[in-house]
Amino acid sequence: MDSQGADLPEHVRRNREVWDTRHGAWFGAKARAQWAAEPHWGIWATPQSELPVLPDDLAGKDLIELGCGTGYVSAWAARAGARPVGIDNSEHQLATARQMQQEFGVSFPLLHGNAESVPCPDASFDVAISEHGAVSWCDPYAWIPEAARLLRPGGELIFLRDSTLLALCVPDEGPAGRTLLREQAGMRRIDNSDGSVNFSLPHGPMVRLLRDSGFLLEDLIEVYAPENASTDFDYVDLEWARQWPSAEVWKARRVE
Ligand SMILES: C[S@@+](CC[C@H](N)C(=O)[O-])C[C@H]1O[C@@H](n2cnc3c(N)ncnc32)[C@H](O)[C@@H]1O
Repeated sequence: MDSQGADLPEHVRRNREVWDTRHGAWFGAKARAQWAAEPHWGIWATPQSELPVLPDDLAGKDLIELGCGTGYVSAWAARAGARPVGIDNSEHQLATARQMQQEFGVSFPLLHGNAESVPCPDASFDVAISEHGAVSWCDPYAWIPEAARLLRPGGELIFLRDSTLLALCVPDEGPAGRTLLREQAGMRRIDNSDGSVNFSLPHGPMVRLLRDSGFLLEDLIEVYAPENASTDFDYVDLEWARQWPSAEVWKARRVE
């Protein structure tokens, strides 16, 4: 499928260029550690037992990971008995995912493409999941309706993203502070100084988009940093994330 990218939307092309440069030893080591570990979530590595992102009953379920990166979430789902498929915009990320599949002996289909337009039939999955993947890098008005198309009635959409508050407080470089740096009114697309494009839709518009796309919102978990947690990432520190949620887990059900 789509390996050249000539027809991709502008933000998808830009994000592909940036993500195709994000590889090398750090990414390889990070991917290997994630694949080797039990499920845990976000930049604070909160264990699944404290932050239940993956459903309990994955056995036999068809799952698509939208923006799968190095594929560890799909690997965890496969070990729990699901049949995952990963799609990612970056061939380099997928190359690392393929290498991990070989090293860990867990294999599932990996597609190179845009999660806003997935080459799979309607209603072919029971679960669609994104951990800082499509949810952070795709236009919500494109990828959420696409997730609805891909899910069977009763299927579950799960995503973990930076919180709205973090998006408002984080500067282009360095950690989030206590000052609001951008307007929430109209917030949707954020152009970064490295040429990449993020998307962050505030709560009200996101709830309405989910509803209009055929979802029923079942949960919104605000994620604070666990006590004494640490992170490799520099855009938020422990003191901030102990007081304000740095991330959010959303769970929505495709209506029957
Ligand atoms: C922060 S990573 C998150 C993925 C995974 N959880 C990980 O950490 O490896 C973001 C991923 O989203 C992918 N991505 C960005 N835009 C995308 C798009 N339009 N379609 C599919 N994947 C996309 C990037 O290539 C990257 O692999």
